[in-house]
Amino acid sequence: MKIKLIIGSVLFLSYSCSVDPEIIPTVKVDGIKEIVPQGWPTPKYNFNNNTLSTERFLLGKALFYDPILSANNTISCGSCHQQFGAFSNVGHDLSHGINGILGTRNSPALQNLNWNTSFMHDGGILNLEVQPLGPIANPIEHNETIGNVIAKLNATTKYKSLCQSAYGDEVMTSQRLLKSLAQFMGTMYSYNSKYDEVKKGTKSFSADEQNGYNLFVAKCATCHTEPLFTNYEFKNNGIGVTLLNDSGRAHITNLPSDLYKFKIPSLRNIEKSAPYMHDGRFNTLEDCLNHYSSTIAPSSNLDPLLIGGISLTTQHKKDIISFLKTLTDPTFLNDKRFAE
Ligand code: HEC
Ligand code: HEC
Repeated sequence: MKIKLIIGSVLFLSYSCSVDPEIIPTVKVDGIKEIVPQGWPTPKYNFNNNTLSTERFLLGKALFYDPILSANNTISCGSCHQQFGAFSNVGHDLSHGINGILGTRNSPALQNLNWNTSFMHDGGILNLEVQPLGPIANPIEHNETIGNVIAKLNATTKYKSLCQSAYGDEVMTSQRLLKSLAQFMGTMYSYNSKYDEVKKGTKSFSADEQNGYNLFVAKCATCHTEPLFTNYEFKNNGIGVTLLNDSGRAHITNLPSDLYKFKIPSLRNIEKSAPYMHDGRFNTLEDCLNHYSSTIAPSSNLDPLLIGGISLTTQHKKDIISFLKTLTDPTFLNDKRFAE
């Protein structure tokens, strides 16, 4: 009996010594679960083949914020996807990757990703679970190989321990990396904005917001469709071509009819995710509305809804912006479970 106790405490001591203190979560992660808010469509991705657990979520979170995923250990997913900007890159028109190299596109917000029918501004990636392979291998983002990332992770006590808790053994594999990142990103649900409260009948719009909402439904919602504020299609919204000459959807399909079409982004938390459009060319919501009313560039692929622009008075624009601000979700933006 005495011997057993001694062995027990020796084991306990050696175990606790080998644990990197960094891994002890500072915030208890409760309530990681699949959510489909009332009235929303069925999500495209679900966790049926990626059983959710707090430990797997925490492994995904550690990976998301760890620069070990880049070639010179300087860039993490979180460098370009910041929570206070709904996981966009606040203040950067184009993303800045490894060694400060400038990318060619704006980092999109990450939220309600399970509903996405495709990823990236051109829809070049189809599944949330394979999405991280893009930025990891991208020479101007993480510039790293997945094989090397896995080797680096397997050499750390931190990931051995996180993996043990998440999957029952210490071995990190690319599949575990991808599945746990999908758990972290796929549970970034934003569904607690004032707009959502109004829909539930627990709050009401001000007169300006209500007027803005009515205008929005009439003029914008065909593309930015409720409740996700996108229908996930690819459209040319007339912003015109710049020197970057980003061909958009045609980059993937090679079809002339897809030239300069981009995935319609969700407008949830739009107040917080400036700058706007695939190349971050507009700094404010006023700029976006001035574009729709006055600077639509004609082209053969311009969406028919936007030919001639959308007629909006100054007051209309103000009201639409008041409405768009009701899509801000402080619960999501401040949710400590997702904080670095
Ligand atoms: C250097 C900045 C940068 C880094 C680092 C980065 N991203 Fe991104 N992310 C972007 C940009 C820019 C896009 C849009 C790319 C495109 O359209 O080609 C994007 C797109 C995405 C999307 C698609 C969102 C959508 O709605 O289509 C997801 C998901 C994502 N990133 C997750 C990650 C993960 C996970 C990591 C870490 C492994 C990561 N990102 C690292 C800049 C970055
Ligand atoms: C024909 C479809 C269509 C209509 C109608 C439309 N949009 Fe868009 N919107 C888009 C597309 C496509 C993009 C993305 C363009 C890009 O990435 O370059 C976009 C982008 C935006 C953005 C920037 C989002 C971001 O995250 O960068 C805002 C804001 C916006 N639209 C607001 C509106 C408002 C307000 C209206 C109505 C006055 C409207 N849109 C009407 C298709 C449309």
